[in-house]
Amino acid sequence: MKVMKIEGKNKLSGTIKISGAKNSSVALLPASILADTDVTICNVPEITDTDVLCEMLEYLGADVRRASESVVISPSTIVNKEIPKEFTKKLRASYYFMGALLGKYKHVEIFLPGGCSIGSRPIDLHLKGFEALGATITNENEKYIVEAKELKGANIYLDIASVGATINIMLAATLAKGKTIIDNAAKEPEIVNIATYLNNMGAKITGAGTSEIRITGVDKLHGCFHEVIPDRIEAGTYIIIGALLGENLKVYNVIPEHLESVTSKLVEMGGDLQIGSDYIIVNARNNYKKTHIKTMVYPGFPTDLQQPFSILFSRCNGTSIVEETIFENRFMHLKELEKMGMSCKSEGMVATFVGPNNLKGCEVSATDLRAGASLVTAALIADGTTTIRNVEYILRGYEGIVEKLTDVGAKIKIEEIE
Ligand code: UD1
Repeated sequence: MKVMKIEGKNKLSGTIKISGAKNSSVALLPASILADTDVTICNVPEITDTDVLCEMLEYLGADVRRASESVVISPSTIVNKEIPKEFTKKLRASYYFMGALLGKYKHVEIFLPGGCSIGSRPIDLHLKGFEALGATITNENEKYIVEAKELKGANIYLDIASVGATINIMLAATLAKGKTIIDNAAKEPEIVNIATYLNNMGAKITGAGTSEIRITGVDKLHGCFHEVIPDRIEAGTYIIIGALLGENLKVYNVIPEHLESVTSKLVEMGGDLQIGSDYIIVNARNNYKKTHIKTMVYPGFPTDLQQPFSILFSRCNGTSIVEETIFENRFMHLKELEKMGMSCKSEGMVATFVGPNNLKGCEVSATDLRAGASLVTAALIADGTTTIRNVEYILRGYEGIVEKLTDVGAKIKIEEIE
């Protein structure tokens, strides 16, 4: 079993380069199925989630060549067949094979996706969208068969502005006949990145980044070259770490507009940030003003950052509050943080933190990806050594986390234990 060992209290200075966005890459890779000729995607992070998706493409018969951060995919040799549980259970984003295979072959056989257990995470809106495009769905023992003689454009209203459903419906509608309108679409930057990719292949999509996306179906899509946007969640995590330990810590290859909700909150709390065109320099402070954050869909405060952000509350005087509005089970890290000396509790979807607290190293366990990021953040400021179990969660989303933090002065390593 792998564990992460972190010795806390080391100041961090130097630069951290942000990798390509996980949540873009995990949709871009399956979207490649839609092209008839080779695609090149650059800036794909080397994390376990992208590794699994490349294996899934290979399982279907695609030729996948990975050279450092670029992935070249030849989709022309793909044979559409059932995608087994062994793959789909490994990550949430396996569901993008639904939209991509349905769009291209009008037939998909696939098992339910896995992913972090941060809530019930149904896929009803994805399925409702496919049905609106003319597909029929059969479901037995977690296996879904989604098929259509022909997909026809439709007006689809999403009850919730779901990232996954918006992308999946875009994938299926790109090669449908006629016009599709997705209303109350998610507006996350990753949606824009996927729409740009599809447009580079010859799709006709407008409005990505707004709540109304319009797709005019085309007959076929061709290969293209595409770049993944920087990972705003990875960047946010390192900015939070910098706000606790940074001495002119420069986080670069970022799009600062994507992080406005987080940087504005930090500034409001008394944070020391210099925001450049593609970088943010951050210096640590010992005290921050207590605050209240409420997670919202983009451009609101990202749910993926509330867990690491809450470590800042150990440097606040008084009670800070996190209201989670997206996922109902995103406070599993609190028990672990309590072991480290944080004073925190949750009731329903609200957590309260009473600071200031001195954190001490101990043995803790990551319960999901961003919970893992919060434990890394806490361990970096704690007295002594922290051992984090279930590091696999963290490695799903943070490329080269050990190397990146070591390079700026952290004492962190991964060890294999019995
Ligand atoms: C994506 C991100 C995840 C992020 C989340 C919200 C990926 C791979 N993951 O997850 O990191 O935390 O967006 O920004 O990109 N819902 C339904 N029915 C559906 C779909 C969603 O009820 O069919 C609900 C979910 O349970 C959740 C809310 O809608 O409460 C938002 O979910 P969604 O935006 O779909 O998140 P994901 O795409 O799973």
